[in-house]
Amino acid sequence: MADKEHLNLVIIGHIDHGKSTMMGCMLIKTGAVTDREARELEKIAKEYDRDSWSYAYVFDRLKEERQRGITIDLAFRKFETKSKYFTIIDAPGHADFVKNMITGASQADAAILVVSGKKGEMEVGIAANGQTREHAYLAQTLGVKQLVVAINKADVYDWSEERFNECKDGVSDLLKSIGFPVKKIPFVPTSGMTGDNLAEKSDKMPWYDGPTLIEAIDQFEVPPKPTDKPLRLPIQDAYRIKGTGVVPVGRVESGVLKKGDKIIIMPTEFTGEIRSIEMHHEEIPQAIPGDNVGFSIRGITLKDVGRGDCLGHPTDIPNVIFPNGKWTGQIIVIWHPTAIAQGYTPVVHAHTAQVAAKFTSLSKKLDQKTGAVIEDNPKFLKRNEAAIVELQPIKKMCLEKYTDIPEMGRFAVRDMGRTVAVGIVKDVVSGTPAAKK
Ligand code: GTP
Ligand code: MG
Repeated sequence: MADKEHLNLVIIGHIDHGKSTMMGCMLIKTGAVTDREARELEKIAKEYDRDSWSYAYVFDRLKEERQRGITIDLAFRKFETKSKYFTIIDAPGHADFVKNMITGASQADAAILVVSGKKGEMEVGIAANGQTREHAYLAQTLGVKQLVVAINKADVYDWSEERFNECKDGVSDLLKSIGFPVKKIPFVPTSGMTGDNLAEKSDKMPWYDGPTLIEAIDQFEVPPKPTDKPLRLPIQDAYRIKGTGVVPVGRVESGVLKKGDKIIIMPTEFTGEIRSIEMHHEEIPQAIPGDNVGFSIRGITLKDVGRGDCLGHPTDIPNVIFPNGKWTGQIIVIWHPTAIAQGYTPVVHAHTAQVAAKFTSLSKKLDQKTGAVIEDNPKFLKRNEAAIVELQPIKKMCLEKYTDIPEMGRFAVRDMGRTVAVGIVKDVVSGTPAAKK
């Protein structure tokens, strides 16, 4: 495994389109999940009276997930193909848990978009308020540029080429409008239930001559690692572990973190030294962009670190925007029941942070395709409109210019349990700490 390249792969798509089942099946069929574990999961699925869900239970491990038959939180598993090894991040499709999907997508290099080909299900997913659409927008904004689309549940649509093409066309139109290079994206007809076209080519769809799902993901390119940029490691969570102390975890976005490094965590301003770094339960001497790691720091407590904070080196400290600062964002409005106006204060998600922020100015409305200014100081912004806006966080938040560190310069605007807009950071005015004013 050590000589294989690593990629983080997020599984996205509308609720119940078969993400967890497909990934569970793939892991079982390729032996990444042992027979013993697979049999154990079958038993548990029977106990919950959900026989057909045992594959999904590879990823859905919470009691509530197993009872309700939905994914709620992210689950991570390791998986290998011929040339790569993947950390698979299974995301929830349910509209209530899109914030978890955003966290997953913000850590991913590539995605499998799972779209059920069952009559009516594809249509619901790509509709104005469907999660196929919402997830595709978010993936694009969060920098997931490489995609494979699985037109799933082929057993239900009778392995039909006609239905496959209908779904492919619908999803292609959507992806094109978002700006994905559709011609380069493989569309694979799959059944996550029977395993067709996952690890082995299906004999039920002789009309299909493209890659299997595994062949398709093996073709993903490993993005160049921004190791020469300053260290940015957004914290995904911090745990207190008996005997070890507090262990923060997160993914390195840029730069390199080495054992022994002096570090600073923003905005808490905690400084310390890295005692050890762990990935997949193995100690490693250094972590590079893309690595999901846990680490220990002497003397750190849960007050010093938490989700949304960002770790860096004291020589190049992660940028913080204070509540009297602001940033300029270029956004696209995905959904809003009415319209966005000045003063609107939804929640902004950027890397792993979630902070309420106020639209202090709607500066320019833009033509979505060309980027040309079509209106100065618009009064409102509606669905599908692009704009330059100014936002002010209500509490300290780590954020950087997209052109400096893209991974730290993207955000999603959420309200009423839905994604309202997605955008990138054009400029930042940090502001000053209240106490030092
Ligand atoms: P969320 O994580 O809650 O968004 O759902 P999901 O996309 O992970 O879907 P999940 O794998 O939980 O499957 C949802 C339902 O569809 C379950 O009843 C599965 O058994 C069924 N299902 C999934 N894939 C297939 C498939 O390829 N064929 C058939 N017939 N059923 C499938
Ligand atoms: Mg699921």
